[in-house]
Amino acid sequence: MRILFASSEAYPLVKTGGLADVSGSLPRALQHRGHDVRLLLPAYRQVLAKAPTPRPIATLKLGRHEVALLESRLPGSKVKTWLLHCPALYDRPGDPYHDQHHQPWPDNGERFLTLCQAAALLATDEAGLAWRPEILHCNDWQTGLAPAMLAGRQDRPGCLFTIHNLAYQGLFGFEHFLQTGLPPEYWSYEALEFHGWFSYIKGGIVFADLVNTVSPTYAAEIQTPEFGCGLDGLLRHRRQALCGILNGIDDHWNPGTDPHLARRYNSRDLDAKAQNKAALQQELGLAQAPDLPLLGFIGRLAEQKGLDLLLAALPALLTRPLQLVMLGSGEPHYQQALKAIAREHPQHFRFEQGYDEALAHRIEAGADLFLMPSLFEPCGLNQLYSLRYGTLPLVHRVGGLADTVFEEGPEANGFCFTEATPQALLAALDRALGRYRQAGHWRALQLKAMARDSSWRQSAKHYEALYQAILAGCR
Ligand code: ADP
Ligand code: GLC
Repeated sequence: MRILFASSEAYPLVKTGGLADVSGSLPRALQHRGHDVRLLLPAYRQVLAKAPTPRPIATLKLGRHEVALLESRLPGSKVKTWLLHCPALYDRPGDPYHDQHHQPWPDNGERFLTLCQAAALLATDEAGLAWRPEILHCNDWQTGLAPAMLAGRQDRPGCLFTIHNLAYQGLFGFEHFLQTGLPPEYWSYEALEFHGWFSYIKGGIVFADLVNTVSPTYAAEIQTPEFGCGLDGLLRHRRQALCGILNGIDDHWNPGTDPHLARRYNSRDLDAKAQNKAALQQELGLAQAPDLPLLGFIGRLAEQKGLDLLLAALPALLTRPLQLVMLGSGEPHYQQALKAIAREHPQHFRFEQGYDEALAHRIEAGADLFLMPSLFEPCGLNQLYSLRYGTLPLVHRVGGLADTVFEEGPEANGFCFTEATPQALLAALDRALGRYRQAGHWRALQLKAMARDSSWRQSAKHYEALYQAILAGCR
């Protein structure tokens, strides 16, 4: 199958979160299965710095911009990567969505409108590249308008829209809608209007042939008012076209080959994990205490990740015999609160502010327990990395966390709590600490965790089945 995969970030070219991990690995997995995949991405400054030998293959007229389409490769793979080179929109410091002060770029509407326009144009080969995809696979709001732009065209490919996070919807004003050239009748609650706003994500949800999210539980949750972010009614309406497919994880998250680790290990050589713990304690200036449980957290400092819950639990949590390291960047008020707590507890708490890929690997390998108290979590990748590294996840039972981490029964591989309260989190922690003291039990849980197959193999097959269903005519 010929598949055009459109995304606003892809590892290792540019990453702010799990969307990049998925966009950097699913296309590769699909290519391994014999498909002809092209990845479409804006040529942000950091992308141009890393993309191997980009060469212009077309000029696209998109809105008021002349955009060069560059062909490159996803590093470490043979996936052809098409980059939209438009310095006026993408050559900036900061991340793909924010400036250096974490403020959204004021022209994000136009920046991602251009991405959607390019996807729609390439989907029908209006650029004359002699390559026409059978499937356009769009991801999150930044690509949501492309299916709307293609709606009604006889020559369009099948469209799949993947919701990685419903909380980010791409809402802009009516004036921006007027600039897009979209048909005026799309300004309706049945199309792109959302409580007086212009919604990019609705473009994908309303107009794609099929829609999926990144776990079965999240696919069900978003059809409820609690998790539906105001779109639960629409999602219930489209429930026949909606399903959940768990993300896989890439091979570079493998403790047996991970170049960032002090000592590589696998399930047959699990004692070697202790050396990574010692190295991490040393790196962070924590006491070299092999028997003290070391807890890790890595993530965007955003409400979604359960930071309020964690902050409320921290004073009591830090009275337990343990060490805690948190790595993250994001909302300034969380950064300040964590810095203040770190100053009060220099003995056993470290807060590493920033984005550090290598340290993230070392935390996954060195920690004993991994905290993910997310309020909601469409899939979550860090619990999957943790499982593979034998670092038992302690999670709030929502979304993809509920589908991958189990405390009871033969599948037990971690610790879960259901109520989103500091008390429930602490109770789960105390159960985990109890288990930690029973070395045999702990080891059995670690082996179960490490045995989980989180490779892309299965998930890529599920995506393939969705593509086939679309082509077989459910559009
Ligand atoms: P989300 O996409 O909601 O942020 P995921 O769990 O799906 O959550 O993916 C987050 C990804 O981003 C993981 O690969 C994680 O290791 C990485 N990550 C998040 N914050 C940081 C950070 N501060 N430093 C390094 N990696 C980070
Ligand atoms: C989103 C979600 C996260 C998911 C990732 C990749 O950012 O918050 O749960 O793992 O996308 O699908």
